Amino acid sequence: MDEKQEASERIEELRRQIDHHNYRYYALDRPEVSDAEYDRLFAELVRLENDNPELITPDSPTQRVGFAPIEKFLPFHHEVPLLSLENAMQETDVLEFDRRVRKLLGHDAEDVEYVTEQKMDGLAVEMVYEDGNFVGAGTRGDGFTGEDVTANVKTIRAVPLKLHTPETGPPPPRRIAVRGEVFMEKSDFEALNETRRNAGEPVFANPRNAAAGSLRQLDPSITAGRPLRAYFYGFGTLEGHEFQTQWELLNQLRMWGLPTNPRSVLCANIGEAISYFEKLTAQRESLPYEIDGMVIKINRLDWQRSVGEKSRSPRWAIAYKFNPDEAQTHVLDIGVQVGRTGILTPVALLNPILVGGVTVKRATLHNMDEIERKGLRIGDAVIVHRAGDVIPEVSEVIESLRTGQEKPFHMPTACPSCGEAVVRLPEEAFHRCVNRNCPAQVKGSIVHYASRDAMNIDGLGHKIVSRFIDEGIISAVPDLYRLRAEGLENLPGFGAKSAQNLLAAIEGSKATTLARFLYALGISHVGSHMAELLAGHFGSFDAVRAAGVEDLKKISGVGDKVAFAVHSYFENPANRELVDRLLEAGVKAEEPAPARPVEPGFWLGKTVVFTGALSSMTRQEASALLASRGARITDNISGKTDVVVAGADPGSKLAKAEKLGVRIMNEAEFTGMLDES
Ligand code: IVH
Repeated sequence: MDEKQEASERIEELRRQIDHHNYRYYALDRPEVSDAEYDRLFAELVRLENDNPELITPDSPTQRVGFAPIEKFLPFHHEVPLLSLENAMQETDVLEFDRRVRKLLGHDAEDVEYVTEQKMDGLAVEMVYEDGNFVGAGTRGDGFTGEDVTANVKTIRAVPLKLHTPETGPPPPRRIAVRGEVFMEKSDFEALNETRRNAGEPVFANPRNAAAGSLRQLDPSITAGRPLRAYFYGFGTLEGHEFQTQWELLNQLRMWGLPTNPRSVLCANIGEAISYFEKLTAQRESLPYEIDGMVIKINRLDWQRSVGEKSRSPRWAIAYKFNPDEAQTHVLDIGVQVGRTGILTPVALLNPILVGGVTVKRATLHNMDEIERKGLRIGDAVIVHRAGDVIPEVSEVIESLRTGQEKPFHMPTACPSCGEAVVRLPEEAFHRCVNRNCPAQVKGSIVHYASRDAMNIDGLGHKIVSRFIDEGIISAVPDLYRLRAEGLENLPGFGAKSAQNLLAAIEGSKATTLARFLYALGISHVGSHMAELLAGHFGSFDAVRAAGVEDLKKISGVGDKVAFAVHSYFENPANRELVDRLLEAGVKAEEPAPARPVEPGFWLGKTVVFTGALSSMTRQEASALLASRGARITDNISGKTDVVVAGADPGSKLAKAEKLGVRIMNEAEFTGMLDES
């Protein structure tokens, strides 16, 4: 074989492999190779094509940035108009939608099957494929004509340039205009803003704006550098294929290599759709991207056609929106809280207001700089923003509503907890209380020690800790392990039962993992993730405690700041004494043994519990896969549980599994085990 032919065959092979890995990564969300391996294949292809430019074809994965900047966007005409959705703000609106649908279909009494999809907060784009090849893309615009963003969409790796021909099932159709949402994941958005901030460029207000701004670039090479994603959910023009249902459509698009949202659910009736909405509301914050509600669609496409459309929106779908997460109120006063590290945080005391379904009375103001930046005064009308479990914050001051009675706020010069001096170090945004024994700081550090991701002492929250300190029952973390029932039972409102429970929880916390213990100590810059890194690297508490700055810096992910903070924590005699007292009290922090390797037929006869959300499939899908391998899926953890599969934001089940010593798998391990058994 001559050299040219060899190059040509290798190029073909590399393109095939890269397309395949794109499909695994974006459409199935189950990559088979590491990013590094993917990059290596890509680099090899670029090199071979550079050496053999005559072999470059427009559909090569290297040709995503193939267009020069343009002056302005050309119009893009939608052959089938892209409608918008009617909104449902509450459950009654959804029930009314279902009632109307059933009436239009002429079977009032029967259930209608619906597909629920997340309402992605990005921008709608239509992409046209002919014989499986990407030929063009346009934004939604007014629904009839948008902007031609073909060159930009071509740079998005999640969008295939060639549709995948599955081994079984129908091949890509003659012609299809697929519709979907282009968006940016939250973490990518934050990283992008961080880079922009460092470069002195203006930051984007939210992921949606970042996605829209990135797609509407006249220079495609700028879009190419932005981490855009896409999920597809519908179609306009379609030739050479027919779908029966929305559910089939979603699965088929995925088979053709078009990413679809893995968290869509097929619901037997409107009641199921409403329950899923409640679940979604709870999951919303832990999702990797932003959504602003759920779209409910009639599953059968013939029924969709039969209920039809109004002028701007279909009668077969509705957008069930989340409660707005902003509201307007007044700042009655500004208080100051002292945290475990001595930092003083100003807090707005609000005229109570409902935000996202929860009454909010207080909102953080972060620090003095923030108050000055916003120009906030006591008495101001403000917008309060609340996102999930995150502490509410004042996002905006409405200056036009000022009466002249508003008063400026000043940071106190004495700590509101202990009365000692408050200082502000020149390079810090924060004011701090200088007294290490300040009761507020001690309370904060005990609450942190007991918190869920730290020692996980159930029932030891801020209220109880405050009481124990104020009544002189404890004065430092190690005192927890000297608490006895007799001392507690006499406290008013503290019964024998609650005393017993608390003591059991404290006792139970003694056996813990190294990572949790390191995190619990509250060393500056050591969050849960950093604690895991340290624990994984050193393996024992003694090794961490003995580590020098240079030893620490050798760990990838540990910089100067962390290395210095950890080392100086253990140099400090007061900390050394505290740690020794904890170890003497019986705290044992040990790294769990590494996971055992898999045996074939691993799942046969195993009892499995899921906790937290999986990103690559729904829990129903995962359960079905396991059931087909002979496993039993249960809801509650007990001594009989063999494996706990922990997805994102696992609940209390995880802690229980750890306590019982049940084997825990994260999502990557779990999907790996599926492949092998
Ligand atoms: S279906 C005819 N499904 O919501 C129905 N739209 O208000 C067309 N959106 O412009 C839309 N996620 O940008 C549909 N799973 C989803 C969606 C979704 C987000 C957006 C889309 C559209 C807007 C409609």
